[in-house]
Amino acid sequence: MVEIDQQQKFQNKIDAEIKIEPKDWMPEAYRKNLIRQISQHAHSEVIGMQPEGNWITRAPSLRRKAILLAKVQDEGGHGLYLYSTAETLGITREEMINALQDGSARYASIFNYPTQTWADVGAIGWLVDGAAIVNQISLQRTSYGPYSRSMVRICKEESFHQRQGYELMLTLSRGSEAQKAMAQDSLNRFYWPSLMMFGPHDTESAHSASSMKWKVKRETNDDLRQKFIDQTAPQIEFLGLQHPDKDLKWNDEKGQFDSGEINWDEFWRVINGDGHCNRQRVQHHINAHKEGAWVREAMASYQQKKKSKAA
Ligand code: 3HC
Repeated sequence: MVEIDQQQKFQNKIDAEIKIEPKDWMPEAYRKNLIRQISQHAHSEVIGMQPEGNWITRAPSLRRKAILLAKVQDEGGHGLYLYSTAETLGITREEMINALQDGSARYASIFNYPTQTWADVGAIGWLVDGAAIVNQISLQRTSYGPYSRSMVRICKEESFHQRQGYELMLTLSRGSEAQKAMAQDSLNRFYWPSLMMFGPHDTESAHSASSMKWKVKRETNDDLRQKFIDQTAPQIEFLGLQHPDKDLKWNDEKGQFDSGEINWDEFWRVINGDGHCNRQRVQHHINAHKEGAWVREAMASYQQKKKSKAA
C-alpha cells in the first residue's frame, strides 16, 4: 500500500509542477529514465566537440578561430554540467564514461557525420545547435530540478552557438559562387540528420509516453521537430539557398509546413553504430580519456592528501 501511496504522491507533485529534487522519493523507473537521458545528453555534448574541434586549426581567420574555440569549450562545460546532474541520481562519472566507451550508451547520431568543409562548422552551429535549442528550451521546464536548472544555463550559451553558425553561413552564401555552393552542400548534408536529433516519430518512441507523464519531456519529438522545421525554412530562404526537402509545402490550415519523410533506415543504422564516424568518435574518446588519466590521478591524490591533513 505504501508504494502505491508514494507513486500517487509523486505523480501529484509532477502534476502540480513541483520540481523533483535529488533527495526526494522517486519511482526507480523515473530515476533510470533520467539517468539514461541526461547521461546520453552529456555524452552528446562531449562527443560533439570532435567534429567542430577538427576545424579549430583550419579556421579561415583569427576571429573565426576564437569563436570556434569558445564554442567547443562551451560544449565541454555543458557535458560537465550534465554529468554532474546525472550524478545526483546515483550514477558515477566512471560508470557513465564506461557505458559511452563500451557502446551501451548512446549520443546524438548527428555527431557521427563527418565535417568535410568549413561550411559544416556553420551548418552545425546553425542547424545542430538550433535543433538543440528548440529541444533544450522545452527541457528547461523538465520535472527534475537539477536538469531543469542546468538547461537554463546551457540555453544561454546555445543561442551564441546558433547565431555564430548562421552568421558563418550568411557570409558564405553572400560570398563567391564556390562559397555559396559549399554552404549549399553543407545544408544538404546536415539538414535531415538535424531533424533526426528530435528522435523517432512519437508512435515509435520507446520513452515518450512515460517521459511525458512524468514531465521529463514537455513536448513530444514530433512537435519539437515541427517547430524546428517551421523556423528553419525562412532562414534557408534568407540565405538564398535551396531547401533540401523537395516536399516541403506551407499548410495554411495547420499554419505550419508539411514536410517530406525522414530516412528512418538511416536514423536507426547510425544510432545503432553504423554511421560514417561512430567507431572513430568513440576511439578518439577512449584515447583522450587514457591520455588524461594522469590528471584524474593527480586530482585524486591531491584530494586524498587534503582529506588526511584535515583528519
Ligand atoms: N541520436 C541518438 N539516439 C537517439 C536519437 C538521436 N538523435 N534520437 C533518439 N535516440 C534514441 C533514444 O536515446 C532511445 O534509445 P535508448 O532507449 O537506447 O536511450 C531511442 O532512440 C528511442 O528514442 P525515444 O524518443 O524513445 O527516446 P527519448 O524519449 O530519450 O527521446 C531525445 C530522444 C529527444 C534525444 C531525448 O532523449 C532528449 O530530449 N534528450 C536530451 C537532449 C539531447 O540529448 N540532445 C542531444 C544533442 S545535444 C547537442 O546537440 C548539444 C549542442 O550543444 C551541440
